[in-house]
Amino acid sequence: MATILAGKGLSRYQIHIKGNSFPKTIFNQAISKDNKTLIITDSGIPKKHIKRIKDAISCKSINVLTLDQGEKSKSFSSFQKIMNKLITLNFDRSDSLIAVGGGVVGDITGFCAATYLRGINYIQVPTTLLAQVDSSVGGKTAINVAQGKNLIGSFYNPKFVLILTDFLKTLSQDQYESGLGEVIKYAFIGNKKLKNIIENDSKKIVERDDKILKTIIEESIKTKSKIVTKDEKENGVRAILNFGHTFGHAIEAHHNYKNITHGAAITIGMIIASKVSLFEGHIKDHQLDNIINMIESLGLCSDHSKYRYSDLKKYMKADKKVSAGKLNLILINKNFNAFKTSNFNNKNIIKALS
Ligand SMILES: NC(=O)c1ccc[n+]([C@@H]2O[C@H](COP(=O)([O-])OP(=O)(O)OC[C@H]3O[C@@H](n4cnc5c(N)ncnc54)[C@H](O)[C@@H]3O)[C@@H](O)[C@H]2O)c1
Ligand SMILES: [Zn+2]
Repeated sequence: MATILAGKGLSRYQIHIKGNSFPKTIFNQAISKDNKTLIITDSGIPKKHIKRIKDAISCKSINVLTLDQGEKSKSFSSFQKIMNKLITLNFDRSDSLIAVGGGVVGDITGFCAATYLRGINYIQVPTTLLAQVDSSVGGKTAINVAQGKNLIGSFYNPKFVLILTDFLKTLSQDQYESGLGEVIKYAFIGNKKLKNIIENDSKKIVERDDKILKTIIEESIKTKSKIVTKDEKENGVRAILNFGHTFGHAIEAHHNYKNITHGAAITIGMIIASKVSLFEGHIKDHQLDNIINMIESLGLCSDHSKYRYSDLKKYMKADKKVSAGKLNLILINKNFNAFKTSNFNNKNIIKALS
């Protein structure tokens, strides 16, 4: 089992990565026999995954609350439902919430844990690749409102994160590829080992080989946790995690957040950002080819020809990364290191999207 430390000081926590054997001791060290637990999950997560977790915990009571699958569950109404359940169950601060699911379940559960009694224990068991390599690391919790995604939330770290690669065996191809989009991002923004693995072992990644999954998850988390630990409240270096995201978010918005996964959108966003990096003189043609080849070797779509500047412009202007009227972009240089800049020629964005 690999264990990675994330967070700082008192909110430091461990992220455990395992194959398929369930580590009961990890749960039972964190949850005492006299405490209660409430598992939050959603209707798309196979029941057998929930059963394994229930079987691993020995405590006073284990309840399960199942939300509908999908982004719409990251809502005020789910928040209220979970709060009502915690109040009915008479939860106190020593009891635990357990998120078993993808980023939706992780974000809403984390937000409830941060706010109920001003903060109770919570454990993350991410079951999508995206949640394992991204949303379960970094302490961001959130719900959506009609005015926008993730507008309400807080930074709140779990007690620990448990990742089982075995959970990924039941994930749909689209959701698996969505997570791979984030994995490949870490390779492009500085993780050389991950880049080598993708270049040499793409077939095993596509086949969801257990050993390779453990390695790519570990490397992805190392990169994310190194960055977020330096910058817990997102003031500086954390911005490089948004490589591909300015264009990716615009693509998701252009699709009205339907029929395209987040990972598929940011993968195309990374190609557009790499093209801008090329036109700005930061990388060479063969490096852009290298990026496209890696994306295609994992079976991800690299075709951005259907997105025009005129389609994406309005969404880019509304992007969170616009400050003082200037768009900030994350670009990459020839050493595959990402950097934030507002110093680029807008014509190169138009050229990349033509
Ligand atoms: N907190 C953060 O730092 C952070 C970072 C990135 C994304 N997010 C958030 O994460 C959310 C997206 O997360 P996601 O991509 O995991 O989507 P998701 O949580 O909606 O899960 C995708 C689908 O997979 C199903 N599923 C989950 N695990 C499964 C399994 N093992 N087998 C079969 N099906 C399974 C779910 O039921 C769901 O239908 C967004 O709301 C996004 O804002 C948060
Ligand atoms: Zn992302």
